Amino acid sequence: MKLAILSRAPRSYSTQRLRTAAAQRGHTVKVLNTLRFGIDLSGDEPDLQFRGRPLSHYDAVLPRIGNSITYYGTAVVRQFEQMDVYTPNTAGGITNSRDKLRATQILSRHGVAMPATTFVQDRADVIPAIERVGGAPVVIKLLEGTQGIGVILAPSLKVAEAIIETLQSTRQNVLIQRFVKESKGRDIRALVVGDRVVAAMRRSAQGDEFRSNVHRGGSVEKVDIDPKFQEVAVRAAQIMGLKVAGVDMLEGDDGPLVMEVNSSPGLEGIEAATNLDVAGAIIDYIDNQVAFPHIDVRERLSVSTGYGVAEIVVHGDADLVGKPLGESGLSERDITVLTLHRGVLVIPNPRPRHVLEDGDRLLCWGKLEEMRSMIPERPKRRSRVKKLPKNPLPDSAAG
Ligand SMILES: Nc1ncnc2c1ncn2[C@@H]1O[C@H](COP(=O)(O)OP(=O)(O)O)[C@@H](O)[C@H]1O
Ligand SMILES: [Mg+2]
Repeated sequence: MKLAILSRAPRSYSTQRLRTAAAQRGHTVKVLNTLRFGIDLSGDEPDLQFRGRPLSHYDAVLPRIGNSITYYGTAVVRQFEQMDVYTPNTAGGITNSRDKLRATQILSRHGVAMPATTFVQDRADVIPAIERVGGAPVVIKLLEGTQGIGVILAPSLKVAEAIIETLQSTRQNVLIQRFVKESKGRDIRALVVGDRVVAAMRRSAQGDEFRSNVHRGGSVEKVDIDPKFQEVAVRAAQIMGLKVAGVDMLEGDDGPLVMEVNSSPGLEGIEAATNLDVAGAIIDYIDNQVAFPHIDVRERLSVSTGYGVAEIVVHGDADLVGKPLGESGLSERDITVLTLHRGVLVIPNPRPRHVLEDGDRLLCWGKLEEMRSMIPERPKRRSRVKKLPKNPLPDSAAG
């Protein structure tokens, strides 16, 4: 394949290793400075210029987008996606993972365990928010910090409040997060490639520092993580839409707590700690997936008028429980089941003989009108305002 590595640091350890790994495997590989691309929307099709000239054909790109150029970098990656060039990390995935609040919102929707987190704006809401996540000491984080900068441990409510007010007064948004004391200044970095963890290391903070980032003096060592940690790391990366990711987890009392998912994980520390060829694993994965450029399913499918995606929950009282999918009547009603979710289990393309159970969730594609009656009613919050009676004025007053 012909691969472009998007990077502004051609000499950095990670870029060098990726380039070498690709070349050793017989691929054509170029390191291209992300900021030298021009996004060309003037012709019939989306196109890219590089250093002022039309870009030649590439089969795949590997984005290594630094934090300081997220906006431009993701625009370039998005343009490659529009041109059907394969990328393991999509622009959407990179954007989602860059912002700690956005990432936390998405992961919590899918039940990924994380340290209790909250986000508030008004002064009056700060103290209750801190108490909601367990009180002081509490962790305060800038939404877009990296390398441990912008992560503060506030020892008391008063200090926490002062820090948050100060940051907000300079228009910086902050997250409030439970301090996971039991992790004792250590965390786990799992390197996810595709659907597996290819390498993992433990990072330990130095002295009385609580942040384990290598840039904060943290040390690293190889670690064999148990399957639960591997499963959580892969799931977090998948949900974020990243096929190459460094997933950071704290070791909580009840298991792994995901802190963040990095879309351009550094390779130096992890290759040194584990002695594993992580760069090679990344290149092999891209080579294997290059035939499947990202397709925005929602975008493509939404042009079929009257059809859409919905989640149907199989309920005890409904007539679906105990029936094989093939006899559920769904396909006769022009409804296709894409995936069946049972607890944490996901069954893609479930077969007609698959027997439905109470609580199964079916992700369906079909006629919206047919699906409407099958969608479970949302638990309504009681409305505070009383409905007006049909005749708001008593008859006597009206007459
Ligand atoms: N809620 C927390 N409890 C305990 N330690 C934490 C918590 N959040 C972060 N840390 C420590 O601080 C480090 C940096 O936090 P992180 O959210 O990963 O920010 P950054 O993007 O700057 O690396 C983590 O690697 C971890 O060691
Ligand atoms: Mg981190």
